Amino acid sequence: MQDETTLRTEALLAEKRVFKPSSQIVDQANINTEQYEQAIKYGEADPEGYWAEAAQELEWFRKWDRVLDDSDKPFYKWFVNGKCNIVHNALDRHINTENRNKTAILWEGEQGDVEQLTYYELYQQVNKFSNVLRSLGVHKGDRVAIYLPNIPEIAIAMLACAKIGAVHNVVYAGFSAAALKERIHGSAARIVVTADGSFRRGKLINLKKVVDEAVDGCDTVERVIVVKRAGESVDMSDKRNLWYHELMRDAATEATTEVMDAEDTLFMLYTSGTTAKPKGIVHVHGGYMVGIHRTLKWVFDIKPTDVYWCAADPGWITGHSYIVYAPLIAGTTTVMYDGHPAYPDAERMWKIIKKHGITILYTSPTTIRMLMSYGDELPRRNDLSSLRLLGSVGEPINPEAWMWYYENVGGQRCPIMDTWWQTETGMFIVTPVPASPLKPGSASKPFPGIQAEVIDKHGRAVPPGKGGLLAIKTPWPAMLRTLYNDRERYKETYWNIVPGYYIAGDVVTKDEDGYLWFQGRADDVINIAGHRISTAEIESVLVGHPAVAEAAAIGVPDAIRGELGKAFVILRQGQAGSDELAKELKQHIRRELGPIVVMGSIEFVESLPKTRSGKIMRRVLKARATGKDEGDLTTLAD
Ligand code: PRX
Repeated sequence: MQDETTLRTEALLAEKRVFKPSSQIVDQANINTEQYEQAIKYGEADPEGYWAEAAQELEWFRKWDRVLDDSDKPFYKWFVNGKCNIVHNALDRHINTENRNKTAILWEGEQGDVEQLTYYELYQQVNKFSNVLRSLGVHKGDRVAIYLPNIPEIAIAMLACAKIGAVHNVVYAGFSAAALKERIHGSAARIVVTADGSFRRGKLINLKKVVDEAVDGCDTVERVIVVKRAGESVDMSDKRNLWYHELMRDAATEATTEVMDAEDTLFMLYTSGTTAKPKGIVHVHGGYMVGIHRTLKWVFDIKPTDVYWCAADPGWITGHSYIVYAPLIAGTTTVMYDGHPAYPDAERMWKIIKKHGITILYTSPTTIRMLMSYGDELPRRNDLSSLRLLGSVGEPINPEAWMWYYENVGGQRCPIMDTWWQTETGMFIVTPVPASPLKPGSASKPFPGIQAEVIDKHGRAVPPGKGGLLAIKTPWPAMLRTLYNDRERYKETYWNIVPGYYIAGDVVTKDEDGYLWFQGRADDVINIAGHRISTAEIESVLVGHPAVAEAAAIGVPDAIRGELGKAFVILRQGQAGSDELAKELKQHIRRELGPIVVMGSIEFVESLPKTRSGKIMRRVLKARATGKDEGDLTTLAD
């Protein structure tokens, strides 16, 4: 059975519409059509020369000896022996330019409070917190866990870590205490930075309580630094607790910037894979800053007058690369909004755009679809004429949502940059630029300097129109370097599936013009509202519940969030399935994993389809749940 949305999507796809940018957009873009074609050729013919040229746009303490060292594949090294610090490029160097008194961070809270920090003010705050961390004995290479809402202090904490060479491990503030504990433990963090609370849809969430539970029994944690954000009373009795504002009060406003090797670790960030154990993705100073700066400058076409809003959270890679680091390196004004996009009403985002004269909006398909469900009137009755570019990230955008965004938010004048990338890639991989002709629902083509192909699991090229795996053939500077403390798993997960290629885990189709159409994940990872969740994580939490004997989780399509979780559960003897138990299991998942894991239904079953070797066939469950053909069942045990 096809629903209305699929029919409309198919109709839009059948139209094969192509949106050509106006000549004004192309002429004024940082990279025009001709330059872009040249860049693609340059990136193909001489990737090292192309990336070296991108690196020269930034400042280095010492220039590299070699651009790429690929002698120990897949442990690639970029800008060998180059010395740098990403914070020198994001902050220090701006202080002696016209950017000094420009707004660096424009922050708005859910309650409507606004705070602005100029580059000089941000520089001073970062220096102060660098001194605080140093005074607490934090050294180069030490890990600092950050569990903060979307407030300026999260950027300050990240930048201060980077400045002194410490490794930040930001954990999204919607994660549960158990998930936070695992991530603090996994990184052996010495310091945790958090806040007393945060607001979401007007509700106060006590983050400190979550941290208290998470650090209980974590011996590596020497200090918990608490930012006063919500005015919530918190328990500070543990000797490890310190108030951020008290530490900052007398800290000096100058601090030296650590000279880092290009390959020194900048941060680690956990993401979900196919097993229940999250993976600690490792990124470094040198190549990362080069990749994110080049992509932001070309794709979002950053100009001195822009007010740029990436409406993600710094707790995810999108926030790391494109709220904090790249916009600051590019010297733009980066907007941070700490709240729900439809609070107190569904006009909130449009009001923020109008109020601050935002010129570039970068958000997710889930947010677009959610706001679209309130109708065309709300964006239309707000003056959104300041916007000149739009962006989308995190999940495939359906042509219908693309068209709505284009017409009602962008007033048919703003190109939409549908950027495909991952925590692992660090930077945009498949994306248009403003000069590209656009096809609604396609993320367009690989960025210059990236060689990406569609192949099958034997490494053979897949012809146009057929689904295959997205594979990246050559290394790129902002790529992950390894998985934290797990070099083997890094090789296995990304490079051993099809030897010689980085396999992203996404299914994609190429059309006759070379445009790529992402279809979703090829593995047991589901994508709920742009959040990557492993089905194994959900299953492992479910079997941790006393009523559950066995569980299988899948993703099922959802009109707003893209996907929702669905679980099939075999109960222990003596337990009976009921609506109450299903509700309790959903709450159990929420408590254990955090509110990002939104579950649809939980079904109680007698058995699960398994292969003869005992592996759950999620594909079969998914086909049953979505009314599709179950495919080849020859390996089914029963
Ligand atoms: O499946 C792809 C999807 O999100 C995955 C990466 O998730 P994460 O590491 O959390 O990073 C999200 C933000 C970069 C990918 O493997 N994805 C991301 N962007 C897109 C997308 N799928 C389709 N179109 C996109 N533009």
